[in-house]
Amino acid sequence: MTKQEVVDHLYGLDDELLFAKSEQVKSLNIGSKVYLRGLIEISNICIKDCLYCGIRKSNSNVDRYQLTFKEVCQSIDFAIGKNFGSVVIQAGERSDEAFILLIKRCLKYAKEKSEGRMGITLSLGEQEQSVYDLWKNEGAHRYLLRIESSSNEIYNKIHPEGYSWNARLEAIERLRKAGYQVGTGVMIGLPFQTIDDLADDLLFMQRLDIDMCGMGPYIEHFDTPLSKFESQFTHKERVALTLRMIALLRILMPKINIASTTALQTLDNQGFKKGLTVGANIMMPNITPDVARKNYNLYQNKPYSTIDLSQFDVAYGEWGDSIHYSLKSF
Ligand code: 5AD
Repeated sequence: MTKQEVVDHLYGLDDELLFAKSEQVKSLNIGSKVYLRGLIEISNICIKDCLYCGIRKSNSNVDRYQLTFKEVCQSIDFAIGKNFGSVVIQAGERSDEAFILLIKRCLKYAKEKSEGRMGITLSLGEQEQSVYDLWKNEGAHRYLLRIESSSNEIYNKIHPEGYSWNARLEAIERLRKAGYQVGTGVMIGLPFQTIDDLADDLLFMQRLDIDMCGMGPYIEHFDTPLSKFESQFTHKERVALTLRMIALLRILMPKINIASTTALQTLDNQGFKKGLTVGANIMMPNITPDVARKNYNLYQNKPYSTIDLSQFDVAYGEWGDSIHYSLKSF
């Protein structure tokens, strides 16, 4: 697809045609099953101060928490009990020794308790090579690190001074070097962002040859500096754009894993389902213990409820690794 074609489809040239095509590409290349990753938000403590994020370090209106090792184990047990194939361990970014070792312990527990059957994705921000290597050796095999925007200029506008788009990209390269299946993604409908930027985001992910993608609408959080700036897109438009982005990425990268995200569900109560229909194949049900869940507010109105999975064609007990990655490796 040329950039112009991508742009035209993002404007809504022919949604019916686009979604028919993306659905067809999906079923031909990866089938119609939904793979689950139980999401464990183990801490909202964060050393970063991203201008859009509700758990940024300067937001003093957040009750900070850190699950105990035992609580993480309970979530892992829950995932094993429900026969989810995988979990995602996510947290605000930290690089202190205690945190690195806590993650290591959790990985070891998940692997031992499931007798090696639990797939594990990490989403723990930018880390040194040695940390990525350590966690990989303990059994994590996928890692999500969103680039947030492929535009260096937008990246700088939505982060404090001194944060570097290049450093983020280098972290993605370190993940690859460590041998992870690497996922990235962007926020859709940011202030300053145009349709042209979103087309560039898709082509960037294709060029980077990523294995997985999680992308969703940007949603204002009123305790953040970015919420003072207006997006040119309404919430409804951001939902439509997210669905077109998913469909286009599926066509551009037929065998990668694409998540239907919570942010999409937040802006549309059929969001999960719509994302899966137009090309996504991954869902990340939140399995964070109730006591902590209400404090992991990246954006306004993030739902706390558990999703009813019976409406989906779920592949229980399977990892659902990125086929794109397996084909690259052999
Ligand atoms: N709206 C939507 N997504 C957000 N994230 C953080 N803040 C917001 C927001 N206000 C996303 C970022 C980050 C992921 C963990 O959550 O893309 O990488």
